[in-house]
Amino acid sequence: MSRVAVVTGASSGIGKATAAALAGRGYRVIGTSRKPDSIGPDATVTGIEYRALDLTDAVSIDTFLAELGPVDVLVNNAGESQAGPLAELPGDAVERLFRLNVLGPITLTKAVVPGMRERGYGRVVMVGSMLASFPMPYRSSYVASKAALRGFATAARFEESPFGVWLTTVEPGQVDSGLRERRTKYIAEGSCHAADFSTFMTELDAKQAKGIAPDTVASCIVDAIEADRPRPLYAVGSNAPVMFAVRRLLPRTIVERLIARAYGMSR
Ligand SMILES: NC(=O)c1ccc[n+]([C@@H]2O[C@H](COP(=O)([O-])OP(=O)(O)OC[C@H]3O[C@@H](n4cnc5c(N)ncnc54)[C@H](OP(=O)(O)O)[C@@H]3O)[C@@H](O)[C@H]2O)c1
Repeated sequence: MSRVAVVTGASSGIGKATAAALAGRGYRVIGTSRKPDSIGPDATVTGIEYRALDLTDAVSIDTFLAELGPVDVLVNNAGESQAGPLAELPGDAVERLFRLNVLGPITLTKAVVPGMRERGYGRVVMVGSMLASFPMPYRSSYVASKAALRGFATAARFEESPFGVWLTTVEPGQVDSGLRERRTKYIAEGSCHAADFSTFMTELDAKQAKGIAPDTVASCIVDAIEADRPRPLYAVGSNAPVMFAVRRLLPRTIVERLIARAYGMSR
């Protein structure tokens, strides 16, 4: 019997690549999209069963879960990338971000973990972001959402791993997935941050365009799933091994200055 894997946000980017990689390895893959019927034939991956799921909508989550049978692997991948100065982020935008990036994935995780525990096998991968480990200006809401997701997984590992259920976080660096075209941006008219924000966004988009391919992240996610004892954290892209070593060696204030400089900010 093939293992059943659910990949949220499987219509594009990292989710689509992960769903394809798992289907290629013999998993039965259920991929989600807000509008599965509008995924064109070019974007559809053979072997993936697409189902509707909007993680910001409680009714959509309930409907999805009601129709879901036993799940062995859950990849919480769907997410929104948001940017803007903290003081200018609209409350409803931050709430939507947290529903999609944190609360929705946690609802799915809570729903599937008991069955995994009963069957003695389960893998839950949170697709976080290296920004949770290396916070950047104008990304506070996104950084906080990914840090929250990692926090849930890192703590719950202690609880569930004795039952064969491993939660893990994969933090990608910059990935050339097209996410930047879908990024939501908020800046007030006449903002004192306008010039800095524009410099930052130009640098960010340029770095992301040179990022790694979604397939590389998908391979890392598959490695995490198939490890006997998945690690708490995997990081892939953006020179991750060097970045984490630098962070361990240098004082935080220096790291902060290096990040600011890399994005054209004078601090
Ligand atoms: N690209 C990067 O540089 C990068 C770096 C670090 C981490 N990440 C993370 O990697 C994950 C995938 O990003 P990506 O780069 O592959 O971007 P992407 O191509 O834009 O994929 C985002 C996915 O999320 C789904 N989605 C969006 N809103 C949703 C909602 N309300 N409910 C359910 N699903 C929703 C989208 O599906 P539909 O539109 O079909 O619903 C889409 O498949 C995200 O969590 C992102 O934060 C990306």
